[in-house]
Amino acid sequence: MVTAALPYANGPKHIGHLAGAYIPADVYVRYLRLNGKGVVFVSGSDEHGTAIPNQALKENTTPKAIIDKYDALIRNCFHKLGMSFDIYHRTSEPIHHETSQQFFKKIYDKGLLTEETSEQYYDNEAKVFLADRYIVGTCPKCGHPNAYGDQCEKCGSTLSPSELINPRSTLSGKAPVLRPTKHWYLPLQNYEGWLKEWILDSHKEDWKANVYGQCKSWIDAGLQPRAMTRDLDWGIKVPLPNAEGKVLYVWFDAPIGYISATRALFKELSEGKKEFATPQSTFANPKIDDWKKYWQDDETKLVHFIGKDNIVFHCIIFPIMLHAEGEYILPDNVPANEFMNLEGDKMSTSRGWSIEMHEYLEDFPDKPDVLRYVLLTNLPETKDSEFTWKDFQAKNNNELVAIFGNFVNRALVLTQKYFDNKISALGSLTDVDQKVITDLKEFPSRIAESFENYRFREATAQLIDLARLGNKYLAETEPWKLAKTDLPRVGTILNLALQIAASLSIVCEPFLPFTSKKLSTMLNFNSKNWSDAGSSSLLKIGHQLGEAKLLFEKVEDEVIEAQIKKLNDKKKMMEQSAQPAEPAKPEIAFDDFSKMDIRIGKILKAERVEKSKKLLKLQVDTGLDTRTVMSGIAEHFSPEEVIGKQVTILVNLAPRKIMGVESQGMILMASDKDGKLRLLQPSEVVAQGSKVS
Ligand code: MF3
Ligand code: ZN
Repeated sequence: MVTAALPYANGPKHIGHLAGAYIPADVYVRYLRLNGKGVVFVSGSDEHGTAIPNQALKENTTPKAIIDKYDALIRNCFHKLGMSFDIYHRTSEPIHHETSQQFFKKIYDKGLLTEETSEQYYDNEAKVFLADRYIVGTCPKCGHPNAYGDQCEKCGSTLSPSELINPRSTLSGKAPVLRPTKHWYLPLQNYEGWLKEWILDSHKEDWKANVYGQCKSWIDAGLQPRAMTRDLDWGIKVPLPNAEGKVLYVWFDAPIGYISATRALFKELSEGKKEFATPQSTFANPKIDDWKKYWQDDETKLVHFIGKDNIVFHCIIFPIMLHAEGEYILPDNVPANEFMNLEGDKMSTSRGWSIEMHEYLEDFPDKPDVLRYVLLTNLPETKDSEFTWKDFQAKNNNELVAIFGNFVNRALVLTQKYFDNKISALGSLTDVDQKVITDLKEFPSRIAESFENYRFREATAQLIDLARLGNKYLAETEPWKLAKTDLPRVGTILNLALQIAASLSIVCEPFLPFTSKKLSTMLNFNSKNWSDAGSSSLLKIGHQLGEAKLLFEKVEDEVIEAQIKKLNDKKKMMEQSAQPAEPAKPEIAFDDFSKMDIRIGKILKAERVEKSKKLLKLQVDTGLDTRTVMSGIAEHFSPEEVIGKQVTILVNLAPRKIMGVESQGMILMASDKDGKLRLLQPSEVVAQGSKVS
């Protein structure tokens, strides 16, 4: 049973998320399937929690619209990147609501939850309790005036709402009041002894050091009761009487999403509405209750793929929930990754410093495998790692193209040229041949060992080494030089080279599924069996090959430069839109305002002014007259652009001489944070001279 963290459906997901959880999970699952294991692989959208209504507020729409939009976007990207989930579910589905309510009810009925009343901030005007994110105030640490109730984004401190100075509600803008509210808590501290035994004693050896270390420091610090319910109107209703307006805590319901996804999968399988991502020899007739084999059978190995920010939930809280419920198995391993940085800085969607999955796919629609490969070579398995576009280019050009692609292409093209695209017989074998046969045989088990230990970076290095083996074999034997003198020898060499290519087509499938398919077609050979790999007799003598095509193509410098520019531009734009507006000027009386006579006019003529970069000399029809206005817009508009445009003009401004010309009014402009000027125009064309008031 393999799970990949359910991404919040509150925005697009970036390549750091892919490297953290999804790519390693998919590689692992594909490897297990090639070994005939009856694996089930689930993920889906996490659609509750305050993240969703928060985003709805930002986009001025409903939570439902947000989850539908981002679920579709993320689902589609995952599909294009070859994520082979058996099911990609949603926590908004009724079967998930039912599963998590049952789960809650069961541990409640067992008396394992405590009820506690505490004081929480309440918005009297909006009549709701305020989640941490809905409270802003001055940061006690750095004085930032708009820190959130859980975190200050300026200085990065973790906060609680009660620490904020002058807190106010983001809903009404008013100061919130403290009000008592009742919640149900999971007393984590009661499970400390059990956790120590299960994690600290039993998983010291097999869990990754970063995961084990985080668990240990949580446990050592002492566990506290944690509320499993929230006051929120978005989420799964607490299935108890007297729980009006209360929903399950998102970190209670979301991991149960793995279970509901598996239930939904077997329901659909049993009804014949769905199939496994890959045919399952283990399931001839899936039954509706077979999900239990994956969650309630001690023989099942449960593995969670996540990023490091999810460790405590998957290693401490969810296991305690599973243990408390009583029927479930526990994770065998949680191979969490650290974070992937981008071009020397932390990846962040909100700061614009990110490559979102959909952005990559828009620019490189035919290269899902290149991204998979580059991320795999850089997985943050033991510490934070880094993605750079230069490295992307180098890995593509120097490894995928120059080693993998080149090797396969040479072997195929020569076979086409000299042997009618068929596998030749083997002649007597030289030492070099014997060596390559022995080396080839070792790869699959070595790669498998890396997989079994969740070392995907190492496995990827071995994959490219296998291609390198083939490439080196051709470089050493130089079959292209022997065609004239010893054609049978060329046949032997190409036979062996193509046996390596056939093994590659199997072994590369978990890493590069699209490439594997292409290569299989080119070789006219299709094995879905890991144990076939490493053999030097996969392609029989006389076997007819398919058509040779290029597996990979070079990425040019311009493409990489454009990506780096795009990244910097996006960040700049985000920074600008994050800047606060300029403060308002001092108050004026209505009389002050009504002294101004503002009209709609039309620009009849426009010309540049000699020796001035900034000025355009305009002739404006004001409805009253036609007058000359010197306007400082030459850096933003060409004369041609403004001729014929309606504009807003202050007509009773005292005339003044500018560059020797009398200017008889002022054109009004909107100036954005980017410093760019825009004309102010009526929403529909109106008569010249129309009054603005
Ligand atoms: N939505 C969470 C995140 O993106 C992950 C949820 S994983 C689950 O960090 F286990 F709760 F499903
Ligand atoms: Zn701060």
